[in-house]
Amino acid sequence: MEKLYDAGKARAIGVSNFSTKKLGDLLVVARVRPAVNQVECHPGWQQSKLHNFCQSTGIHVSAYSPLGSPGTPWMNSNVLEEPVITLIANKLGKTPAQVALCWNIQMGHSVLPKSLNEERIKQNLDVYDWSIPDDLLAMLTDIKQSLYILCCCIVIWCNQVSTKVFFYLVRAW
Ligand SMILES: NC(=O)c1ccc[n+]([C@@H]2O[C@H](COP(=O)([O-])OP(=O)(O)OC[C@H]3O[C@@H](n4cnc5c(N)ncnc54)[C@H](OP(=O)(O)O)[C@@H]3O)[C@@H](O)[C@H]2O)c1
Repeated sequence: MEKLYDAGKARAIGVSNFSTKKLGDLLVVARVRPAVNQVECHPGWQQSKLHNFCQSTGIHVSAYSPLGSPGTPWMNSNVLEEPVITLIANKLGKTPAQVALCWNIQMGHSVLPKSLNEERIKQNLDVYDWSIPDDLLAMLTDIKQSLYILCCCIVIWCNQVSTKVFFYLVRAW
């Protein structure tokens, strides 16, 4: 990628699904700093540690699955049904999806929602001329995080298999 960048064939280098550890390792050897890291990010998986790391190193965070991929059965995919989100949506006269997208935008991230529905596409674009007030924004930090739930599932699973497998997975991430 750096060769393509040097040759002017790429204007910037981006990475995806890089944890703070992987980004840290990359920054030690990279000549060209990645401009962007595309990761799953939404109020149910806020990626606070990664967000802070990227802010301090000047790497933009781009959020995929910003609505929490509603309907995905294997994760905490009920972001749009989170009581805090629906409460804020009702207070502001917005939809839960718009609140979820606005949270990411206010965090300084770009968002990549996907929809095949024209009305929802329009709704998802209508998030740039309003914002969530600070007091309501603070309430979103209380949402239980997907990673926490995922880790609990892995721990339960590993207790049945082997704790070594669990630590191997944690180190690999
Ligand atoms: N880099 C990576 O590793 C990676 C991994 C996963 C995904 N992605 C990318 O991220 C993008 C989005 O990811 P995603 O599809 O997993 O998650 P998402 O955008 O969070 O969720 C998409 C789902 O939300 C529904 N939806 C969209 N707008 C809505 C609204 N306003 N209200 C209610 N439901 C709404 C869609 O249904 P309808 O179509 O019926 O509206 C669809 O089922 C995709 O472009 C994907 O390629 C990247």
